[in-house]
Amino acid sequence: IIVRLEDYRVADYLIDKTDLSFYLREQETWVQAKLHIRRNPEAGEGLPELALNGEQLDLLEVKLNGQLLPPAHYQVDEQFLRVQPQQEGFVLETKVRIYPHKNTALEGLYQSAAGSMYCTQCEAEGFRKITYYLDRPDVMSRFSVRITADKARYPLLLSNGNLIESGNGENNSEHFALWHDPFPKPCYLFALVAANLSCAEDQFITQSGRKVTLRIYAEPSYIEQVGHAMTSLKKAMRWDEEVYGREYDLDLFMIVAVDDFNMGAMENKGLNIFNTSCLLAHPQTATDAAFQRVEAVVAHEYFHNWSGNRVTCRDWFQLSLKEGFTVFRDAAFSADMNSPTVKRIDDVRLLRTQQFAEDAGPLAHPVRPSSYMEISNFYTLTVYEKGAEVVRMLHSLLGAETFRQGSDLYFARHDGQAVTCDDFVQAMQDASGQDLTQFKRWYSQAGTPQLAVRGEYLAEEKRYLLHFTQSCPPTAELADKQPFVIPVKLALLEQQGDELPLHLTGEREAQGTCRVIPITKAVQSVCFENISSEPVPSLLRGFSAPVKLDFAYSREQLCFLMQHDADGFNRVEAAQQLSLQVLQDLITQRQNGSPWQLDPLLIKALQRVLTDNRLEAAMVAEMLSLPSEAWLVERAEIANIEAIHHAREYARRHLADALHPLLRARYQQLRETSRNTPFAASAEHFARRALQNTALGYLMQTDDDQVLAACLEQFAQSDNLTERLAALVALVNSTHIQEREQALASFATQYQAYPLVMDGWLAVQASSPLYGTLEKVRELMRHAAFNLNNPNRARALIGSFCNQNLLQFHQADGSGYRFLADCVLQLDRLNPQTAARLLTPLTRFRKYDEKHQALMQSELARLQQAHLSKDVFELVSKSLG
Ligand code: ARG
Ligand code: ZN
Repeated sequence: IIVRLEDYRVADYLIDKTDLSFYLREQETWVQAKLHIRRNPEAGEGLPELALNGEQLDLLEVKLNGQLLPPAHYQVDEQFLRVQPQQEGFVLETKVRIYPHKNTALEGLYQSAAGSMYCTQCEAEGFRKITYYLDRPDVMSRFSVRITADKARYPLLLSNGNLIESGNGENNSEHFALWHDPFPKPCYLFALVAANLSCAEDQFITQSGRKVTLRIYAEPSYIEQVGHAMTSLKKAMRWDEEVYGREYDLDLFMIVAVDDFNMGAMENKGLNIFNTSCLLAHPQTATDAAFQRVEAVVAHEYFHNWSGNRVTCRDWFQLSLKEGFTVFRDAAFSADMNSPTVKRIDDVRLLRTQQFAEDAGPLAHPVRPSSYMEISNFYTLTVYEKGAEVVRMLHSLLGAETFRQGSDLYFARHDGQAVTCDDFVQAMQDASGQDLTQFKRWYSQAGTPQLAVRGEYLAEEKRYLLHFTQSCPPTAELADKQPFVIPVKLALLEQQGDELPLHLTGEREAQGTCRVIPITKAVQSVCFENISSEPVPSLLRGFSAPVKLDFAYSREQLCFLMQHDADGFNRVEAAQQLSLQVLQDLITQRQNGSPWQLDPLLIKALQRVLTDNRLEAAMVAEMLSLPSEAWLVERAEIANIEAIHHAREYARRHLADALHPLLRARYQQLRETSRNTPFAASAEHFARRALQNTALGYLMQTDDDQVLAACLEQFAQSDNLTERLAALVALVNSTHIQEREQALASFATQYQAYPLVMDGWLAVQASSPLYGTLEKVRELMRHAAFNLNNPNRARALIGSFCNQNLLQFHQADGSGYRFLADCVLQLDRLNPQTAARLLTPLTRFRKYDEKHQALMQSELARLQQAHLSKDVFELVSKSLG
């Protein structure tokens, strides 16, 4: 049951043409497939048996070259249909029956929105639940799809490519549509939708002057929420032309929004299918974070048309080939559309809290994994986010221009092919002339490298040295790691805060003040000439490599960088490092039972941040935000959640008191502006609301009745969900019980028709660190707004409790763990993919003390005793080792 990269072999047969006919009927769906198959000339001699993947299919008939095959001439089991071909080329036809209305796994063909629509999700291996096929990405075929369904219930029939024909069915109550996709594609990019939806239509003229029709389909009640997605799509299409020279290739591009979806969205050729949570955005029903997510995901799926579809993956071990590259592309797009610094801070935060934890836990795997039981378990932060960091490092090492030449070469060389991560790096190598052999270790070695840096100033020689030492902890598949290529972007700041010219020993002259220096050895020193006093280094600017940097900055140096670093990311990073150190003091004090002592230096530094008029609101908001509990966990050897939580709460209260007048003045001024400015989804507005809400969050920690009044005003009067939800969060976590209950009740009444907004309502309550939250969560599982069959609901309630509410999840009696294990068991019977994702917090036990570890592991052991899906089984068994 373990699939290994080293076992890869090319397919024995290819499928040149795939004709599918779907008959969608109430209680069952018939799928007829006509496959034009040919022996793969690259696969060797003879005519081996043909084994087509197929699962949960009722096989009704098989025909070979038009002749019905008697059952003795083929074999079917749970996974395959096997046939012995007699010629090099032949036509195989099958007819199967499937049951989409019973498909709660949301993989293959299923019904969403309580049966009101049919849709598909085939990546990675869902197509085998639709028909017998060579379900692997290196088998690419031209698809024609004919769909027949009830005319009244499903007026809209969609598939990939172009609509060729439509009309009445044989049966008068039915109709049909015939679609043809001219581009050969692997079956994971197949899609079908049958529904009754509204449509928003627009058009895009490509750089070569072709007209593309753009259609976004959603339920009628959602259609006024798709405008932002349409705008984002057009921006993404233009950006991909301008930045990568990539033009869209069909006359039609469609997006369909569905309620029930395991992931964010899917890049099916010409017919993207989206989770509503990544498509719908309206000021009154979506937060600023949702607006940004929609823009990013719409772009991501669109960008896949080249990085994923035109050039696809040879096998699923290469998943990061398309995902890492495409995440890198969408991040650059978002950075260009909004604030690049804020975008980078958000991405690095996710990487350092979640991906680093994955890399340090029992499920650590390389960006290109070498084995799996269930590929769905590898749509991970490592493959996506760390994979994007790897591409980003190539970009910094090569420079933007050379990187673009590399990507042009990659697309030209491999258009229409299914390739590997090595092919991608090879194109970069060929375009740049740089040897990237060592760089490729990023794809094969798991674990987060540590980079320890020490500065040494030689006054007499006017030299400054940086001594680098890199190491990487062992992981399951590899104990001894070879050194990585770590691009360190850096500058040296002199006492006034200006950057010094960088003149490396051996160079004829200084070259710039900010440079990318590749660290390639386990131990390596870099020497700078003509440095007349000891500088403060600004290291790993923009987080130029996914490593744990360790440089012994003094708190004064961090304050200095907070004021002077020209790199926005590092400037905020200095503030975060200072807060981190101060919080770590408090955590130790709490653990030792000694009195709280918050370093006044932090208060002074934040006062300066709040009074610096030149500092942008976005920067102020970021610098004021304390490191999250998740990051404090990540930074601890053994995390004591109780101490972490209370230390952080103490710091928040203490800072709120100390900064009260400044925070209040700033809050009032920002809320005033928000009140008088119509909503816009722009970086400037996002920043204003972020700072305003950060200030409100602090102020609500103080006992100031005027603040409560202000919070209630913002809750009741603001015209957008970002302000309203932030006020609700502040109320829910406050001691104002009556106001909290009233606000929750009025919110629920106002938004009951908006499930995505109600997800926010569920999440706010599940995230409250107050005692009794677990009971509340159990109660909410019976609320009308909750539905375990819908992944968004499950994540909002159960996921928020286990990921956002560390204090309650890690209760010493193990009740949080037991709750999660129970939920996973229940959900696993319905939806293995989402159950497996939900399990993650239980696999992070290494960070906790023995008592907590034992409790977490005993829940994993209890799960292991149950009858589990392959998905959950793989995670549980690997976690237990
Ligand atoms: N390729 C999609 C994306 O990242 C992810 C879909 C994967 N879905 C799944 N159920 N494994 O854009
Ligand atoms: Zn993707």
